[in-house]
Amino acid sequence: MKVLIVGSGGREHAIAASVAKSAKVDKLYCAPGNAGIEQIAECVPIGAMEFEKLANFAKEKEIDLTIVGPDDPLVGGLVDVLKAAGLRVFGPDEKAAILEGSKAFSKDLMKKYHIPTAAYETFDDPKAALAYLETADMPIVLKADGLALGKGVLICQNLEEAKAGVKEIMEDKKFGDSGNKIVIEEFMTGREVSVLSFVDGKTIKIMSSAQDHKRAGDGDTGLNTGGMGTFSPSPFYTEEVDDYCKKYIYQATVDAMAAEGRPFQGIIFFGLMLTEKGPRVLEYNARFGDPEAQVVLPRMKNDMIEVVEACIDGTLDQIDLQFEENAAVCVILASDGYPVSYEKGFVIKGLERFENTDGYYCFHAGTKRNGNDIVTNGGRVLGVTATGDTLQKARANAYEAAKWVAFENKYMRSDIGKAIDEAGA
Ligand code: AMP
Ligand code: GLY
Repeated sequence: MKVLIVGSGGREHAIAASVAKSAKVDKLYCAPGNAGIEQIAECVPIGAMEFEKLANFAKEKEIDLTIVGPDDPLVGGLVDVLKAAGLRVFGPDEKAAILEGSKAFSKDLMKKYHIPTAAYETFDDPKAALAYLETADMPIVLKADGLALGKGVLICQNLEEAKAGVKEIMEDKKFGDSGNKIVIEEFMTGREVSVLSFVDGKTIKIMSSAQDHKRAGDGDTGLNTGGMGTFSPSPFYTEEVDDYCKKYIYQATVDAMAAEGRPFQGIIFFGLMLTEKGPRVLEYNARFGDPEAQVVLPRMKNDMIEVVEACIDGTLDQIDLQFEENAAVCVILASDGYPVSYEKGFVIKGLERFENTDGYYCFHAGTKRNGNDIVTNGGRVLGVTATGDTLQKARANAYEAAKWVAFENKYMRSDIGKAIDEAGA
């Protein structure tokens, strides 16, 4: 069959690598892709938000299945456009992708269906939000309602910071229209875990857990980023946590969406915080995590296409989702200065070493071809993933492989997976 993947990041490279392994796939396309994806798929210069062009391309090439990677096109309704054109597509439609697209929606859903999450209030009037803050406990969390490239969350230590935050989000529109509405939420503490799942509208199958490292600097300092590295599984995701989430969170979310007339087909990514009172949902995403996909997918035993087709056909209950008994660690190689400002266009050397080395992967995020060279083309440039029998071994392998690659201004965190040691895993 012919498969089209939409997107251009490390997540899409990981999806493409998984899909390319399927015996069912004869031809793989990616729009727009990057210099890494290009080695396993034919990349076409159509952006992820160019819905009509994507639909026309898919019809013209008689694509059998389209997989949409990023949040923007999902929340914007690409799946609806492709379905209306008679195409087969994996991912939530616009009605369901609101689970990620509106934090107010997802919080209200959790409240209505008793899914454990932080206490909150929603405001569309800055005056009311400011008045509420006067009596609220600090620290407190402010969240712009809509998509804000993962940056629309402010953790405020005191009233002054919180008031300034409301002004930034709602009046100065620092995150654009996503700040027309704001969620003000109780501050929680605990370890974070990312759990990805396949969903067919009614059945949910959980993938192996992962943990991201969102801050730019070692020791979780510096600005929030899209993610600087991941490991999987998370040793903190114990059987007890799994039981709790299965009982109160996963199926409850899928059932809630169905009950709201918004059946969800695709990937639900549960951002969980393991608090003293038990696991709580921090956020939902309607897609694979990036770089979570880069440690979870290399460990998946199933044929990706079989699982994706079961989601589309509503037969996910018949799939036995299985993961290797090993571990994986991904270290992001970024451009120094990310996430604020950084230079692009530096030649990347050493990539060939990954080509035939089992258990090592170099997923491209911000790269492009320039003549015979592959050059840096973004903040997050590459995701170097390695597997190992244990998390410690995987981490040692990933940091070893991170040295194989060289480019000017290369930056990485040196403590991805440090938490593993605390768990005594
Ligand atoms: P989100 O985009 O909602 O996942 O938020 C980004 C990050 O902000 C999360 O990964 C957490 O580290 C932090 N965060 C979000 N909500 C809360 C909360 N209620 N309490 C503490 N930290 C939070
Ligand atoms: N790594 C976090 C995310 O994909 O949203």
